[in-house]
Amino acid sequence: MSVTGIALILFLTFHCGMNIVALFSGKAYNTICELLGANWYAVVATLGLAALAVIHIVFAFILTAQNRKARGDNRYDVATTVNAGKVEWASKNMLVLGIIILLGLLLHLFNFWYNMMFAEIVGMETTLSPTDGFGWIQETFANPLFVVLYVIWIVAIWFHLTHGFWSAMQTLGVSGKIWLNRWRVIGFIYVTLLMLGFLVVVLAFAFGIAPSLCCDGAADCCQQAVDCCQQAAAACCQQGADCCQQAADCCKEAAAACCK
Ligand code: HEM
Repeated sequence: MSVTGIALILFLTFHCGMNIVALFSGKAYNTICELLGANWYAVVATLGLAALAVIHIVFAFILTAQNRKARGDNRYDVATTVNAGKVEWASKNMLVLGIIILLGLLLHLFNFWYNMMFAEIVGMETTLSPTDGFGWIQETFANPLFVVLYVIWIVAIWFHLTHGFWSAMQTLGVSGKIWLNRWRVIGFIYVTLLMLGFLVVVLAFAFGIAPSLCCDGAADCCQQAVDCCQQAAAACCQQGADCCQQAADCCKEAAAACCK
């Protein structure tokens, strides 16, 4: 569980970095989406990722069943005797948290992977292009229900990972109070920053305050306004006064659209 867990945290780190790009540039984000798309290496990586997730989940059920069999209902002896209250809530509820995370993941894969990679592979018709990740992010987080569900999901992942990180270190052989405590702090900071990264993206798009929403749009729009004026002016020179009025109107419209 520790090895698959750490590999999944590494994937999340890459995924979070990629999502942060969407905060600043829709074009850059979609370039990455196009690079990944349904290319063979992206499909292979997805299959690898799915295998990691399945192994992680199967082991979680096996370990929980073994634990319950060995200890019955009194699974955390330390919590009920000398160290009452010292076992973290997340530690006792790793399986429940895991199930919430799994349900959130299914929703997430439906929102994105299904409309993007899957749609591209099977040639399914979609409202937006399968490589328009930026558009799918805008569309998903324009829906307040999805925003609430994603926030709950991200908080559940945070609980799961803050416990899982140092627990993995313990399984991998880090021992001694000092190093376990250090890993606990390192894990807490790392996982908190990671999940804040995801949260910021969800909220920035939900509230329409991602810098990419204004700058990219404005730049594209200003280019359109310039093109429009140039075309209108070229036509104007050939045709006379009426046309000049049209050119002026066109420029006004283009500039008004640009300000939005
Ligand atoms: C701000 C929140 C998030 C956004 C905007 C986001 C966005 C995306 C996008 C656009 C894709 C599709 C990529 C493609 O098919 O080309 C994707 C796939 C995926 N996301 Fe997220 N994601 C978010 C959070 C998360 C979190 C928290 C997890 C972890 C549990 C996660 C796990 C995945 C997985 C497993 C895939 C499929 C990857 C693959 O096809 O290889 N995502 N996400």
